[in-house]
Amino acid sequence: MSDLYDFSGRTVFVAGGTSGINLVVAQSFARAGASVAVLSRTPDKVRAAVDSLGEIGVTALGFAADVRDYEAVNDALTTTQAELGEIDILISGAAGNFPAAAESMSPNAFAAVVDIDLKGTYNILRAAHPHLRKPGATVINVSAPQASIPMNLQAHACSAKAGVDMLTKVCALEWGPEGIRVNAVVPGPIADTEGMARLAPTPELTEVVTESVPLGRYGTAQEIADCCAWLASPHASFVNGAIIPVDGGWSLGGAAQVFTSMRALMSERA
Ligand code: COA
Repeated sequence: MSDLYDFSGRTVFVAGGTSGINLVVAQSFARAGASVAVLSRTPDKVRAAVDSLGEIGVTALGFAADVRDYEAVNDALTTTQAELGEIDILISGAAGNFPAAAESMSPNAFAAVVDIDLKGTYNILRAAHPHLRKPGATVINVSAPQASIPMNLQAHACSAKAGVDMLTKVCALEWGPEGIRVNAVVPGPIADTEGMARLAPTPELTEVVTESVPLGRYGTAQEIADCCAWLASPHASFVNGAIIPVDGGWSLGGAAQVFTSMRALMSERA
């Protein structure tokens, strides 16, 4: 990304930006010259992420906060504007997931994922809005194929991410007149992420996932970061309210099939 884009002088805020895809997104914007703030629940991860961003040579801030805690989120965004200036690029990527059947997960399990993914995204966008550059800011929500494809064992994530996609579109509609673009990226199976480690924890499931992607492989976090860079760049200046799959074609059919196989496997083992 750093070869193609120059984000120097820009301020980027990445919710969930201390591990997995979101950390690579944060680091990529840093390599392209942006000042970067990250937020996640675990103080050790926040410290490590801020150190890694500092090593790239940019100004970095970190906040240990849960996206479910609106006051904490609000404080983080207010401090970011005070210290780094108006936010040019906001990425909302905090999420939680695990495979569980609708009829057997606890109501609290369902609520936890909806609270993190959907209400957490709303909290981030709501708290960020006063601090976004107007005109010119761009918001990128990290969605999932679950948003549009019903999948076995994913009632919680499907419900939450469907809400994230609709929130993306409504904010694109409401904030477009202020010069703020709001879009979503939809990562497919991405290598070396906690999400895939939870959803496909065995070599046999990894193989099933690989074969279900038309391009025949997992994606990389860098491929998601590259899409975010494009969305945040002037090359995407007329893109607003778009939900963009970056998944090797997984959402064309393979994604749903994987979770059907997983449910069959879990039933065999039960
Ligand atoms: N299967 C079924 N239920 C599960 C579960 C699983 N694998 N993991 C957690 N739960 C349930 C818990 O039992 C609890 O319900 P209960 O109170 O009725 O027992 C509920 O979910 C909340 O879990 P808890 O661990 O207390 O919540 P948390 O807020 O600390 O964790 C999660 C949130 C559940 C999303 C957790 O999986 C998490 O933190 N994940 C880390 C991030 C992640 O998933 N990354 C991948 C993103 S794609």
